[in-house]
Amino acid sequence: MFFSKNFDFSKIPDLTGKIAIITGSNTGIGKVCALEMARQNCQIIVASRSEEKGQAAVTEIKSATGNDKVEFMKLDLLSLEAVKAFAEEFTAKFDKLHILLNNAGVMMCPYGLSKDGIEIQFATNHVAHYYLTMQLLPLLIKSGPSRIVNVSSMGHHSTSVYAPNFTDKISEKKGYNATLQYGFTKACNIMFTRELAKRLEAQGIDNVYVNCNHPGVVSSELSRHIASPKSFLDSVYNNYLAITTENGSLTQLYLATSPEVESKQIKGQYYVPYAASGWANPYSRSEKNAADLWEYTEKLLKEKVPDYQGAAI
Ligand SMILES: NC(=O)c1ccc[n+]([C@@H]2O[C@H](COP(=O)([O-])OP(=O)(O)OC[C@H]3O[C@@H](n4cnc5c(N)ncnc54)[C@H](OP(=O)(O)O)[C@@H]3O)[C@@H](O)[C@H]2O)c1
Repeated sequence: MFFSKNFDFSKIPDLTGKIAIITGSNTGIGKVCALEMARQNCQIIVASRSEEKGQAAVTEIKSATGNDKVEFMKLDLLSLEAVKAFAEEFTAKFDKLHILLNNAGVMMCPYGLSKDGIEIQFATNHVAHYYLTMQLLPLLIKSGPSRIVNVSSMGHHSTSVYAPNFTDKISEKKGYNATLQYGFTKACNIMFTRELAKRLEAQGIDNVYVNCNHPGVVSSELSRHIASPKSFLDSVYNNYLAITTENGSLTQLYLATSPEVESKQIKGQYYVPYAASGWANPYSRSEKNAADLWEYTEKLLKEKVPDYQGAAI
């Protein structure tokens, strides 16, 4: 809340003719992004795991904006089969994709595994979004100029003290620390962004702009796994320290929509509130770690998804 605003809703350009997928846009920061992009005539896919919550968000956004091109499509990031089904349904229905906002996330949940046996935070925050992006990448390239935004967190700084290498221990129960695992998965968002931008550049693909951001410390449902009961301090935090979801949406809306991203050739970058270039820690900026994460994720997908053909780049 102490930062200057380099971007606000009035700077979102007219998005007529653009199609966007926003994961986890039934609530929180993602829903505000969907609402404000719909207001500027973007066609929006509310990609959420709950049909009830997703449809409620669609109804709310349509009625607030008058934009009828807002629809729900089911996406459960805890199942790679479901991610695949989502991507297949999308590519069968649409021949363009201009904005992929990888926003959904889970923070500090108790230990658990996805349907594929991958730890829940790593599965949701990194692996499923990686897989989704790989499946949609050919369409994003074809539709260029296009944007990919991976929503990270300042929580990634915890990898300055807990810096896992890429071994099978990532999904193990023994030693699981919910806070450190969250930070690690958010570092993965930055490393994935940097490696993907590097690979696109190496292939001479210059019309896909991939970036990541920390949205701010935002009052949303993300803290649902943090222990209750709600204390006086929680209340001070949520009511006075944390920023609103509207303000929390600004940095990713900038990366997803601002013409400046193209005019300034912003690629592979980490942005912080409000739409300012940020400092990611050395672990997240390590080219070796990014390459290792890429290789680890590819190996994992080949194990878990029988017909996975390998990265599209
Ligand atoms: N809030 C903050 O202070 C803060 C700070 C730094 C970074 N971030 C990042 O910002 C992003 C948005 O968070 P938020 O604050 O808006 O949190 P939120 O209000 O809890 O929203 C998270 C969204 O992700 C969805 N989601 C979680 N697991 C999913 C799954 N398996 N499949 C499909 N969707 C799933 C949730 O769906 P359901 O409603 O069905 O659970 C919800 O729509 C996250 O990536 C988070 O890490 C937030």
